[in-house]
Amino acid sequence: MSGAAETSLAVIGGSGLYDLDGLEIVGEHDIETPWGKPSDPILAGRLSGVRMLFLPRHGKGHRIPPSDLNYRANIAALKMLGATDVLSISACGSFKEELKPGSFVIVDQFIDRTRGRASSFFGPGLVAHVSMAHPVCPRLSELAFETVKEIGVEVAYGGTYLAMEGPQFSSLAESKLYRSWGCDVIGMTAMPEAKLAREAELPYALVAMVTDYDCWHEEVGPVEVHNVLEVLMTNADHARNMLKSLAPKIGPERKACPQGIENVLDFALITAPD
Ligand code: ADE
Repeated sequence: MSGAAETSLAVIGGSGLYDLDGLEIVGEHDIETPWGKPSDPILAGRLSGVRMLFLPRHGKGHRIPPSDLNYRANIAALKMLGATDVLSISACGSFKEELKPGSFVIVDQFIDRTRGRASSFFGPGLVAHVSMAHPVCPRLSELAFETVKEIGVEVAYGGTYLAMEGPQFSSLAESKLYRSWGCDVIGMTAMPEAKLAREAELPYALVAMVTDYDCWHEEVGPVEVHNVLEVLMTNADHARNMLKSLAPKIGPERKACPQGIENVLDFALITAPD
């Protein structure tokens, strides 16, 4: 490619998704950031001619729990390697009868109930407040939605994701509370990931893959890891298929984000210059 900027789609793979199908790997980056190391070396390659970066969120073999992930290093490493967009893929529980295990939700809102996670690149000395009113990139989200539909997986466009601290699953009272708030799905990892992507001026979309009904459903037993492994693996296969179909649609040529996410820091810094 010459002239126009090139897309570099970063994929963060959640539980069950530790590799990508059909990625022509051109490098593996064992990178150190000012915030430390990401969860795993980052694979760089091409899928249908599109530059891709791949990071398994929990590391190979799923070794890092949600509370111990270095979210800042993960996003910083992708940015340092030239990512232009982030597509996050995560397992989740469902709060709605119609969002069945095996279906996908293209999340568009979040409620953050995580605690004690480092959730900003800014702090004493340099203060910034980015807007999270519209936390996902509509263009990337629509692309993901169309692609999931095309590969024949049930998918909902839009949904509120409750980010919980974990690693324990919710109590019944919590599950009922989140349902009463109108939440659609629950997971342990999309926050502060989405906030940090915004601070890093990276358009972000979240494909949430439903594995269970948490514990609110009266006819289905409470979520247990051993009961969801099969649906988790099937969901991960669907995610790999989705990515193969999505790559040619996003295309190698970088298009400006209609929401201006690449320039949010132009309006967010409040600290006076020295
Ligand atoms: N990930 C998958 N299912 C979940 C649930 N019920 N709660 C939190 N995280 C999850």
